Amino acid sequence: MDLIIRGNTGRIFGEAKVPGDKSISHRSIIIGSLAEGETVIKNPLISEDVLRTIYAFKEMGVDIEIKDDEILIHGTGLYGLKKPKNYIDCGNSGTTARLLSGVLSGQNFSTTLIGDKSLSNRPMDRVIVPLRKMGADITGREDKYLPIEIKPTRSKLQAIKYELPVASAQVKSAILLATLYANNTTEIIEYKTTRDHTERMLKYFGCNIKRINKSIFMASTNPLKGKSIYVPGDISSASYFIVAASLIEGSNLILRDVGINPTRNGIIHVLKRMGADIDVFNIRTINNEPVGDINVRHAPLKGISIDRRITGIIIDEIPILAVAASLAKGKTEIRDVKELKYKESDRIRTISEELKKMGAKIEVLPDGMIIEGVDRLQGTLVNSHGDHRIAMALSIAALVANHETLINGHECVNISFPNFYDILSRLYI
Ligand code: S3P
Repeated sequence: MDLIIRGNTGRIFGEAKVPGDKSISHRSIIIGSLAEGETVIKNPLISEDVLRTIYAFKEMGVDIEIKDDEILIHGTGLYGLKKPKNYIDCGNSGTTARLLSGVLSGQNFSTTLIGDKSLSNRPMDRVIVPLRKMGADITGREDKYLPIEIKPTRSKLQAIKYELPVASAQVKSAILLATLYANNTTEIIEYKTTRDHTERMLKYFGCNIKRINKSIFMASTNPLKGKSIYVPGDISSASYFIVAASLIEGSNLILRDVGINPTRNGIIHVLKRMGADIDVFNIRTINNEPVGDINVRHAPLKGISIDRRITGIIIDEIPILAVAASLAKGKTEIRDVKELKYKESDRIRTISEELKKMGAKIEVLPDGMIIEGVDRLQGTLVNSHGDHRIAMALSIAALVANHETLINGHECVNISFPNFYDILSRLYI
């Protein structure tokens, strides 16, 4: 399906709430299902990706009710899941596939995980290797890809000491979730910071988990107890509007109740360094996650060199950052983001290919991009490559481009942000 966006016809103005955080929504369903008793999730993201996780646990016998703006889970406890009748289809969702691999490694039944074409080409050896070290009986196609088959093991899983070879919160989370079923204490060493929602939520549910410098220690002693969770707005979803408001003259935007966890808010620091006019206020902590309101006003942006140490905490925002950099004055250098090649599309290739069609000046490097800002982008025909973050980044680029942009395959925004275009058309006036 095609969508036509006419650029230069408005500004971003007003107040909005973005939907609940995708990572926290997945985790609250997984951990709520494994807890004893009732978990109420308020403001969850209900999107295609999160529904994959919900269906998976429903198929394993967990009673999950989706109400208006709430999900109610009657958790089965760690050992109450049942063998699903069929394989579990993770669709496009890497978080479902990788986090479930950890949970399923500890069950007394066999399961098979499958996914769509994109997910079936994404690396799964990064979870297979550590889970096997823990004693799991887990195999994948070519030992690397979905389908993954997980069989029960005779003895309990063993805790491990593991240095993460890639900066990945999904790998870290798979190991932590498997540790719920393991003897002893797991230590995960993370040299590059990645999102810590799993650690925060496990702790909130009563788990014995702590961080000392680069190491996360987790023992599997306490059962998890059902809780009430409020899911803050997704800062990754917010970032599209934050960049749009920064770029478009006359903009003034307030976003309420956005998650500002320090392992996720790198985009705000980076944009501020580029000259953006952003205030975060009304900061509070809800169920162990920091939340705040964000005010963004238009300001001219300048190119910067992005510190390699923080690329792990802005990894999902690189496509929209590429849009900001394309219209900033001077050169922006983004290095050490090779991980982007293993996302829903090869995002280094797809975002630079599409933005270049619109007149952006991007040099593609093996591990990143160098972007030289231009005065204006030009509307043309572009393609989402079936990747939700590319579709949303191109939609914002279209707003600041001359003439019309036709976006092919925009409906994939349903993966993470089903009402993206509703909110955008309300704010763009
Ligand atoms: C996620 C972790 C990141 C991120 C993805 C969600 C998570 O993936 O890109 O959108 O919820 O843990 P990696 O773990 O592959 O870096």
